[in-house]
Amino acid sequence: MSSTLFSLLFLLLPFTTLSHLFSPPDNYLINCGSSAPSTPVDYRPFAGDLVPRHSPFSPSPRAVSVQNDNPLPNLPPIYHTARLFTTPARYSFPITLKGTHMLRLHFHPFNSSNLDLGRAQFHVLVNGHVVLSNFTRFVNPQRNPRIVEYLIWVDSEKLVVMFVPSKDSKFAFVNAIEVISAPKDLVPETAQYLSSSKVEVFDGLNKQALEVVYRVTVGGPKVTPFNDSLWRTWVPDDGFFKSSAGSEKLYFGGRIKYRVGGASREVGPDNVYNSARLIRSKNDSVPNVNMTWVFPVVGGYKYLVRLHFCDIASISLGLLYFNVYVNGYLAYEDLDLSYVMNSLASPFYADFVVDGGDDGVGGLSVSIGPSKSSMAHVIDGILNGVEVMKMNNSHNSLDGEVCADFVLKSWSTGNSGLLFTLVAAVCIVLSLSIVVRRRFIGSRESVSWSRLPVNLSDDSVKN
Ligand SMILES: *[C@@H]1O[C@H](CO)[C@@H](O)[C@H](O)[C@H]1NC(C)=O
Ligand SMILES: *[C@@H]1O[C@H](CO)[C@@H](O)[C@H](O)[C@H]1NC(C)=O
Ligand SMILES: *[C@@H]1O[C@H](CO)[C@@H](O)[C@H](O)[C@H]1NC(C)=O
Ligand SMILES: *[C@@H]1O[C@H](CO)[C@@H](O)[C@H](O)[C@H]1NC(C)=O
Ligand SMILES: *[C@@H]1O[C@H](CO)[C@@H](O)[C@H](O)[C@H]1NC(C)=O
Ligand SMILES: *[C@@H]1O[C@H](CO)[C@@H](O)[C@H](O)[C@H]1NC(C)=O
Repeated sequence: MSSTLFSLLFLLLPFTTLSHLFSPPDNYLINCGSSAPSTPVDYRPFAGDLVPRHSPFSPSPRAVSVQNDNPLPNLPPIYHTARLFTTPARYSFPITLKGTHMLRLHFHPFNSSNLDLGRAQFHVLVNGHVVLSNFTRFVNPQRNPRIVEYLIWVDSEKLVVMFVPSKDSKFAFVNAIEVISAPKDLVPETAQYLSSSKVEVFDGLNKQALEVVYRVTVGGPKVTPFNDSLWRTWVPDDGFFKSSAGSEKLYFGGRIKYRVGGASREVGPDNVYNSARLIRSKNDSVPNVNMTWVFPVVGGYKYLVRLHFCDIASISLGLLYFNVYVNGYLAYEDLDLSYVMNSLASPFYADFVVDGGDDGVGGLSVSIGPSKSSMAHVIDGILNGVEVMKMNNSHNSLDGEVCADFVLKSWSTGNSGLLFTLVAAVCIVLSLSIVVRRRFIGSRESVSWSRLPVNLSDDSVKN
């Protein structure tokens, strides 16, 4: 009986447990502004940063916590609270294993009392990188929390996330923070650099700060964090796909066979590799078409383009050959997935570095088309997924031409910063007296700025 159970477990293992086997040495999930010890989101526990035991990561006591008065139903609970900063504040995460870390910041502006978080404007610095500057871009804030994701090389003891309001009159906030060790193979040391003059090796790729700009699954439905071993979201490619003539979508119900030398499940989950778009030859000729995707990007940065391939369509090995173009440059000629993986349905990925905005289409383009080795009556091109990541510029910034030191200096040298401290202190005193008065009078009059310092005092007591 027990041995049957054991072998049953063994049979199930590769399909269930293995996909969640990756256990990151550093794994911090913080629900900012919450006092709940644990808030589950997709079965992952986010710890409130007002809980004393998490105080090492907590920002300065001057960071207040605010609560969403009217959260929409179904809004995950991590977006019901936020930490708000009127002066520079930092979260400091001890790092046990140096290397690439994934950092996700969650922003969901809401109204709390008379304070509108949508009016925030701030910079975010991470270990000397500027990752966001003058950040205000909240699209449809009520519905869509904005999640930004970075891959940051950490070779110090700590990962420090610093929030700096852009002006004295402005403030910063954050709803949740994730800091997770990335698997070693997620960002390799080198990639191919494609430019008009030459193709060369780009070294030190893993030491660059990267921002995930697009993470796209081709030909399939959205892949949610629940189905991704690194809790990523992969959006469908329909919005980026430019040419549909002669191409088709494919879904594969079989097993994805991860192999050494190809992609691991952490590089891309089954749900990304089991769908694709492809070019199929239906008669005696090879279609003379490309499948093309265009990703709008900000110019002035280099981008890492990661293409995911998995031959889920061919009926046998050695039939699929195609060309791959990134920004119009020939990135792969006669790519033969059978040769690189020696197996069907085995995932493979390739990394290319290009300069954003140098192809004249206002973005970054990826094309797949038949090659001179392509054959009639078979599949002549396939793509399963695309990731586009922005690389820090020479100012060590992912967002603008200003370096981290400058951001900090411009805050500290403005003596109005001191003035603000004084004003804030006065506000605290005032608001405390208002609270006291309210308690006595029991009035529910609302004073627009009182909420903040009131919470501040609550919070300072807790710390
Ligand atoms: C807060 O409320 C104001 C007034 O109703 C509205 O204009 C604003 O968009 C709201 N802000 C957010 C972030 O929901
Ligand atoms: C923020 O915007 C202001 C005004 O547009 C600009 O002067 C400043 O350099 C920007 N700050 C950063 C860090 O980009
Ligand atoms: C996870 O993937 C399975 C299989 O593709 C799918 O049926 C399920 O809806 C997905 N779950 C979520 C939460 O996305
Ligand atoms: C093959 O089919 C395509 C359209 O699917 C057509 O344009 C082409 O002329 C056909 N070629 C032959 C040799 O029939
Ligand atoms: C496919 O795209 C490449 C790169 O942009 C181009 O050189 C080639 O001519 C295209 N092929 C077709 C059939 O459009
Ligand atoms: C990114 O910043 C580092 C400094 O930390 C710098 O050495 C590197 O050249 C920058 N990357 C690019 C593509 O400019």
